[in-house]
Amino acid sequence: MSQFDITHKDAAGRIGKLTTPHGVIETPTVMPVINPNLQTIKPSEMRDFGAEILITNSYIIYRKDELREKALADGLHSLLDFDGPIMTDSGSFQLSVYGEVEVTNQEIIDFQQKIGTDIGVPLDIPTHPDVTYEKAKQDMDITIERLREAREFVQGSMLLAGPVQGAVYKDLREECARELSGMGFEVYPFGAVVPLMESYRYADLVDVIASAKKGLDPAAPVHLFGAGHPMMFALAVALGCDLFDSAAYALYAKDRRYITSRGTYHVDQLKYLPCSCPVCIDHTAEELKKAHNCTELLARHNLYVTFEEMREVKQAIWEGNLLELVEQRCRSHPRMLEALKQMYNYSPWLEECDPSSKSTFFYCGPESSKRPEVLRFNKNLERLTLKGSVLIRSYPTKKDREYDNVMMFKPPFGSYPQDLAEVYPFNAEVVRTPDYESLETAYLNTIRLVELNPEATFTFFMKERFEHPLVEKLGEMDNFTIVPPKAD
Ligand code: GUN
Ligand code: ZN
Repeated sequence: MSQFDITHKDAAGRIGKLTTPHGVIETPTVMPVINPNLQTIKPSEMRDFGAEILITNSYIIYRKDELREKALADGLHSLLDFDGPIMTDSGSFQLSVYGEVEVTNQEIIDFQQKIGTDIGVPLDIPTHPDVTYEKAKQDMDITIERLREAREFVQGSMLLAGPVQGAVYKDLREECARELSGMGFEVYPFGAVVPLMESYRYADLVDVIASAKKGLDPAAPVHLFGAGHPMMFALAVALGCDLFDSAAYALYAKDRRYITSRGTYHVDQLKYLPCSCPVCIDHTAEELKKAHNCTELLARHNLYVTFEEMREVKQAIWEGNLLELVEQRCRSHPRMLEALKQMYNYSPWLEECDPSSKSTFFYCGPESSKRPEVLRFNKNLERLTLKGSVLIRSYPTKKDREYDNVMMFKPPFGSYPQDLAEVYPFNAEVVRTPDYESLETAYLNTIRLVELNPEATFTFFMKERFEHPLVEKLGEMDNFTIVPPKAD
């Protein structure tokens, strides 16, 4: 058995099992961040929320005598009182905030091994997204050298993570991922994306994830470093991320913020609690606001909804409707909608990962016209050879027998053989009044079909609600006749 086994797939998303020294975890999952200095929700309680693996910071433990001595003597799992898998970060985050750390790459890797970490992280350089290309490349080269050193140094059972850097430069992210892939890490975190998420640059985040993924073996597990808001889980999972970590549940709580899968509320703006977790069942909005332990209650609620959303994402992969969930979640914020559009600019890549049969395709809006399944149909048009007369219709007629071929017309796909009507994805649930974008795609695909089959003659029984500027273009083709719409 390999360390990461994929059991179900949807788009570039997957359900997998990752084997660590302290047990097997199911991905995608989120690792609650544990602060070894102050932690309101105890690590031993985390399983009750759905956590299978935790993440903490080895540099914080290393720096504090009392914590370091206990971790070296009794082990990390005893220090935190958690017997499941634990990942440790290296102090790179402190490096990015304070500019320096009092530890070397070798020292912190050695320390992580000695305390019994399940997944260790070398001292990579989290490069801020807005630095120049030259600076990003310099930092990346140093990161790659440190990771090479760590890879040679680490033997034994600890899994080693190889963080992919490269700021927002797509070629650097891909190059870094490819380079690290050649060295063979057990987990690939995508680093330094927190500033992108903090400033709602989700479309840039899509670029970063897609470029880095292209440089990796698709079967390698990926961690999106610092991503803990449930609103973006579906999107990031669909792009191939498997692990997330959430400090957000505690940090947001400190700011009196209440997380939902659609966004965040300030608790003082809540009149109702739109959630059924134990906290929200036990309190009214007023009680929650006034509670002496409001921060802890909010942290608990935030953790519940975080894991709830991850289960929703997993169920969607299992059922094969992850892209429907992504399209819904990306309507929560205009910046997320930009990210959705950007994701579908990568449909040629998504199409290569996407299973060929899934649950019924649901049309959820104009963006659905760019889904990988629609693109796949366009690619497959070349394989369709038509001879003689072809009827294209979207409603039953009595004329079928008068033609050599009968095709159905359904936006956003276009025209496909009637025999496939019940087959995925043509059994799609679509709106009866197609939008401009889905008609555009459907007619472009139909024009292509006609061009690919110059010997055939096409007759299209059109509907009034299928009007679109491209109909005129179709009508001008020599072997294409339009039967004008009857009133709908
Ligand atoms: N935490 C958030 N981002 C990063 C990163 O890029 N590298 C490391 N090591 N930790 C992080
Ligand atoms: Zn709740």
